[in-house]
Amino acid sequence: MSLLIDGTWIETEEQIKVYNKFNGEEIGQVSVASREQIRQAVASSQRAMKEQPLSSEERYRILSRTSELIMKNQDELALTIATEAGKPVNEAKIEVGRAARTFQISAEEAKRIAGEMVPLSSADPVAKLAFTLRKPIGVVCAISPFNFPINLVAHKVAPAVAAGNAFVLKPATTTPLIAIRLLKLMQEAGLPEGYGHLVIGSGSTVGEWLLEEQGFSFYSFTGSPRVGKHLKEAIGLRPCALELGSNSATVVHHDADIEYAAERCGRTAFNNAGQVCISVQRIMVHEDVKVRFLTKLVEVTKSLRVGDPSDPATEVGPMISTADAERTMDWIQEAVDHGAKLLCGGTRDGVMIQPAVLADVPTHLKLCVEEAFAPIVVVNTYRTLDEAIAMVNNSKYGLQGGLFTKSLEVMIRCANEIHVGGLMVNQTSAFRSDEMPYGGVKESGIGKEGPRYAIQEMTEVKLIVIHQ
Ligand code: SIN
Repeated sequence: MSLLIDGTWIETEEQIKVYNKFNGEEIGQVSVASREQIRQAVASSQRAMKEQPLSSEERYRILSRTSELIMKNQDELALTIATEAGKPVNEAKIEVGRAARTFQISAEEAKRIAGEMVPLSSADPVAKLAFTLRKPIGVVCAISPFNFPINLVAHKVAPAVAAGNAFVLKPATTTPLIAIRLLKLMQEAGLPEGYGHLVIGSGSTVGEWLLEEQGFSFYSFTGSPRVGKHLKEAIGLRPCALELGSNSATVVHHDADIEYAAERCGRTAFNNAGQVCISVQRIMVHEDVKVRFLTKLVEVTKSLRVGDPSDPATEVGPMISTADAERTMDWIQEAVDHGAKLLCGGTRDGVMIQPAVLADVPTHLKLCVEEAFAPIVVVNTYRTLDEAIAMVNNSKYGLQGGLFTKSLEVMIRCANEIHVGGLMVNQTSAFRSDEMPYGGVKESGIGKEGPRYAIQEMTEVKLIVIHQ
């Protein structure tokens, strides 16, 4: 049973097959939701919020119990992710641990939702008291991607419940099994009927119906800029949080610990085969340290074990589909044809791509301009810090950036001048801890994730002024 509508798991005739992303074997089938089932899910959500509002204590208990249940089932959940998403099982285990933490942080934040006193300066002599309340915004529509199939669901549904909202979730059609499992755990943890719904289907049918549905008060979406822009146009004045990816940059200055920087870049750039919105895609290294940096980066990259994601020794698994792997190879070829140096990797066997390091890539090519979402890093050089900052900012995206330096002056200049949602100093762009505000500028999106920040987005501020 794969669709959760009004507290009941149901099947429909139309099915989508789910595959093992490494070997292509069929591992399950899930039902596709109908237009009517989406209407029912929204109506049931509205009813639940009206008839059975959850106290902050109840929200805390449901979310922290879900967190415990996730940890109790960590191994099984990690294996599901490794199979349906192709993420190496040890990395999947880390993701499951992060999801448990996202639920726990959301549970704690549920108890801290508060407005503020508003000092009024009006000359009106009648005594007044002014303050704001934070109210649940209404039913949340959560649309999640394949690359973090449990933790990015957690980042949408846990803050929704923490804020007192019901939700309707549409997970990626490539990775629905882990989402189904998570909603079952939320039910086991006491999520009342009507507060959580799960619908499955393609963007062009179910996705469009979700956007048409006027009963949603908030949309939380992670995916491509193309779909994000379409969503924004379709939902009118209703608020949303959009996390739309990036071609993240990391700067390695000449005064940094170069071996450490290269090690961190090599170890984080190929997580989940580079299919991470903050993946280390563009590295800007100071000319003076280029050779040392590249030597170490290539050594680390070549040492990564590529293979079956269910094997605990594997560090880099498959890409999500053959089409994505083929597109990646085209981009590598385009760069090589324009004079880029392929220093290692970049070969393909089906969905498997050997982690690739390219140097001296012309900056107008796709590998620099677009989001690669693939196991590739591009290393280019700079002479002055001005040049490095300009190279980072020469992007339509701005989710996160990284910087390696020992100089406080360089840190401060980059903090002020690099235009991104978050700058990680002495780390790569790929760093994320789940309590952080997470969200980008420019085409990387709108709004912030991270339970405390998502709860602010998923609540309405209401001002009360009491006149005596
Ligand atoms: C993402 O790809 O947007 C999520 C990255 C993360 O949570 O580490």
